[in-house]
Amino acid sequence: MCGIIGIAALLGKTPQRPGLMVYKGLLRLEYRGYDSAGIASISGDRIHVLKGKGKIADLEKKLCLSCIDGLTVIGHTRWATHGAPNDINAHPHTDCSGKIAVVHNGIIQNFRELKQMLVSRGHIFKSETDTEVVPHLVEEFYKKFGNLYEAFKQAIKMLHGSYALVLISTYEPNKLFFAKKDSPLIIGLGEGFNILASDIPALLEYTRRIVTVRDDWIGYVSPTEIHVEDLSTSNIVDWSRYIRIVEWSLEDATRSGFPHFMLKEIHEQPRALKDTFYGIQSDAAVAKAVKLLLEADKIYVTGAGTSYHACFFYSLTSSILAKRIVYHFIASEYPVYTGTAGENDVLIVVSQSGETMDALKALRAFRERGVKTIAVSNVVDSAIPRESDIAIYTRAGPEIGVAATKTFTTQTLVLSWLTISHGEAYGVLLRSEAEELRKWLSMSSELVARVISWNESLARSLAEWLSRKGNAYYLSRGIGVPVAMEGALKLKEIAYIHAEAYPAGESKHGPIALVEEEYPVVFTIPKHEELEKTLLGNIQEMKARGAVIIGVAPEDTILKDQLDYWFKVPSTHWILTPITHTPPQQLLAYHTAVRRGYDPDKPRNLAKTVTVE
Ligand code: F6R
Repeated sequence: MCGIIGIAALLGKTPQRPGLMVYKGLLRLEYRGYDSAGIASISGDRIHVLKGKGKIADLEKKLCLSCIDGLTVIGHTRWATHGAPNDINAHPHTDCSGKIAVVHNGIIQNFRELKQMLVSRGHIFKSETDTEVVPHLVEEFYKKFGNLYEAFKQAIKMLHGSYALVLISTYEPNKLFFAKKDSPLIIGLGEGFNILASDIPALLEYTRRIVTVRDDWIGYVSPTEIHVEDLSTSNIVDWSRYIRIVEWSLEDATRSGFPHFMLKEIHEQPRALKDTFYGIQSDAAVAKAVKLLLEADKIYVTGAGTSYHACFFYSLTSSILAKRIVYHFIASEYPVYTGTAGENDVLIVVSQSGETMDALKALRAFRERGVKTIAVSNVVDSAIPRESDIAIYTRAGPEIGVAATKTFTTQTLVLSWLTISHGEAYGVLLRSEAEELRKWLSMSSELVARVISWNESLARSLAEWLSRKGNAYYLSRGIGVPVAMEGALKLKEIAYIHAEAYPAGESKHGPIALVEEEYPVVFTIPKHEELEKTLLGNIQEMKARGAVIIGVAPEDTILKDQLDYWFKVPSTHWILTPITHTPPQQLLAYHTAVRRGYDPDKPRNLAKTVTVE
């Protein structure tokens, strides 16, 4: 998704030149996914814009983005929605006079009508983007009001859709004007400068004091002043009440010696799980969530992509341990389910970013029906936890690689904890059983460290073989199925190899027709006697057709003689299956992508935070 960074600074008050700060901020926004980038600053009575299609590093060589002068500077990484990725459609966009420039994340749904109206009044558009209507609208209103902030407010009132917008203008050269609805934006507070950015890594090097901008907030920041109003009520907002200090270190948001963020984040799982475990133990929100679950008629859980896999896992554990059916559905499918929900029900929304539009829409639709909501997210104060009745946080730290890794294992830890507490409170788990399960969860950090060190070299060597394949199956049964789905998604999204996951019992109902000599089949084999026994037949039917069997299986598995390659994991309780069995599959996908010459941190066509439907 698009990324925004802007700075308004006093001369000599910033740690580095504002142009360089914005440029470095853009590099830290790269992980969100983008196809073009640009930067603009105020120079005299004109705005200077440098922008183009391609990677920031290439644009730097061609245009020297970081050289841009000025004390008021904005930058943008674009992920195309309206108009092809090219030099002209790249942001920032300017008005006819060249005195106003805008960067935008989101979608302006009524841009066609607005553009038509503006064209009929003589405005000349250069790009095909929805964003370009904004500088022209402000230009139009400025002619009427002669006051830039008033013009900006009037323009924003005309927009339908989602936006995080930052505008600069020669009319008020030391201010950044901003507005927000449904797309993330934060203010970073400095001494003699202030920053606006899409998210924390972009500004972490310069400040830790931030304010998360709420929907409908509109205002401006100068180097020494911040003004915020709520557009829906016209009230002035006391933004100082919302200041918080970010605890992430810059180290968390940089690669620290690893070749890719994804590999670093796979290796961070022991730390992420430990922090999440300590956090959840003392989190009062869990007890409140359990109370809601106990009182619920129906329980639903939703998310997208990897987060959906965590939802699916949660639904299975809930059936087994809490003896409660949980309806799990993919967030974008919410209209099918909304009609079945009412005010005695509970919806859990799982989203690491807390900003995924599909999940946000599902949340809002269920809330409208009076459903109580619980968010599980990794980003404090993001939209989904903010709009939920209860927010429970994973503590994975920032995840920069586009593919989710540590956020998945920490989500499953939190959700397992929730199931255990629910089962205990519901009276279907004895206290001693619940304690025993929690003890297993408390070991997840140490266990995952072992899993990673045992399997890194096999993942690297096996990747050489897998990188030459075009297809793979990822199979399991029961509690292992969401983990197999996650393994397949990782391979697909970063190594671009088609991978399909399904419950192994389905093979004979169709998919086995594809299997031939040397066909890769990855089996997730949980520590569970019954499952191991039933998986034996599935492995054998694949082997009989020449498949190569890759097993992710406990060190004491009864299936070891069946496996051509064995990712060995510690022998634990099955509840830890996502935590012990996913990292080898993450490593396999990572090394396969690298082997095939792809950048796993920035897979094609994908974005980290998907703020469009
Ligand atoms: C896959 C991946 C995506 C996300 C999905 C939901 O590796 O990262 O499938 O899981 O876009 O994102 P969140 O969890 O931010 O709602």
